[in-house]
Amino acid sequence: MSSQEIPEENLPLAQDTAHVAVEHVEDDPLGDPGLPAHKPRVQDIDERAARRSERTVALLFTLSMLATVAFIASFVIFPVDKIVYIWPLGHISALNFALGMTLGIALFCIGAGAVHWARTLMSDVEVADERHPIEASPEVKAKVLADFADGARESAIGRRKLIRNTMFGALAMVPLSGVVLLRDLGPLPEEKLRKTLWAKGKQLINMNTNEPLRPEDVAVGSLTFAMPQGLEESQHDFNNEIAKAALMIVRIQPEDIKDKRELEWSHDGIVAYSKICTHVGCPISLYEQQTHHVLCPCHQSTFDLSDGARVIFGPAGHALPQLRIGVNDEGFLEALGDFEEPVGPAFWERG
Ligand code: FES
Repeated sequence: MSSQEIPEENLPLAQDTAHVAVEHVEDDPLGDPGLPAHKPRVQDIDERAARRSERTVALLFTLSMLATVAFIASFVIFPVDKIVYIWPLGHISALNFALGMTLGIALFCIGAGAVHWARTLMSDVEVADERHPIEASPEVKAKVLADFADGARESAIGRRKLIRNTMFGALAMVPLSGVVLLRDLGPLPEEKLRKTLWAKGKQLINMNTNEPLRPEDVAVGSLTFAMPQGLEESQHDFNNEIAKAALMIVRIQPEDIKDKRELEWSHDGIVAYSKICTHVGCPISLYEQQTHHVLCPCHQSTFDLSDGARVIFGPAGHALPQLRIGVNDEGFLEALGDFEEPVGPAFWERG
C-alpha cells in the first residue's frame, strides 16, 4: 500500500515510522548511506492488521505449548512396543512417531511465531551503523605484551626450567590417554561371532521351562526363546555363550513364508532366528504376530521373519541369521548345524 492510500486515522502511525527512519539517517555521522525510503507495512498503518498478526503469533506460541504437553503425554499414552502402520513410513514405533511429531511441531511453531512477529510487528526500518575498527590500538597492544612479560617474569617460568620442562611434558603426554582408548576399537571379533554352541543334533531347549522343544509346543503367533542343549546356567561362561546362541522360534503358515531358503531351513513353518540384533547386539523381544515383524527395543530396528528376517526399518544393516532346524527320531526340534553367518552386531567388516 502506498502512502497515498493510508487511511487518515492511521497517518500518525505511518508518519511516526517514517520519522524514525529520517532521524536515524540524520544522526548517522556517515551521512546518507543510500538506503531506500522506508515503506510502511499494512501492520504499521492498520491497527486491526497489527492485532491480527499479534493473534497469529500468539496462536503459534500456544500451539507450541500444546505440542509440548502432547510430547509429555506420549510417554504415558504409547507403550514402547506398540507398532503402527503409517503411510508412507510403513511399520514404526507409535511412541517414536508421536515424540518426533510433537517435538517437531513445538519447535516449528516457536520458529514460525518468532519469524512472523519479526516480519510483521517489529520495526523494519533499515539503519546504517558505523563499523568500528576491530584492531586494537598500539597502546592496548603494548599493554597486553607488557602484562604477558610481567606474568612470565612473576611465574619464573624461564628461571625454573625443571617446572617448565615437566609442565610441557605433562601437557604433551595427556593426549596419549585418548590414543590408548582407541585400542578398544579392536581387535575385530573375527571367529568369535562366527561360532556358537549350536551344532548338528543339538536339541532346542525352551529357555523358560528348560525342557526340549517339540514342534507341537510352538503355536502359531507365539514367540519362544531357545538355547542349545547342554548349556547350563551354572557354566562359568554361560552369559557369553547365551549372548551368541539365543534363538527366537516362531511358527508361520508355510504358505506365508516368502523366502525360499527360509522355508527349506524351517520345519513345518517353525523358523529359528538369532535373537541378537545385528545393529549393536541388543536382545530382540517384541513380536507382532499378524505381520511376523520383530522389533529391537534399543533403536527400533524391525525385521520381517516371514521374509528371511530382512531389515524393514531402523539402523540394523543385516538380516538376522537363521538357524537350520529339523526334528530328531524322538520328535524333538534340533539344530542341523551352526549359524552360517556371524551373529550379533555387524559394524565390523564381515569379510
Ligand atoms: S541394537 Fe537393535 S536396533 Fe540398535
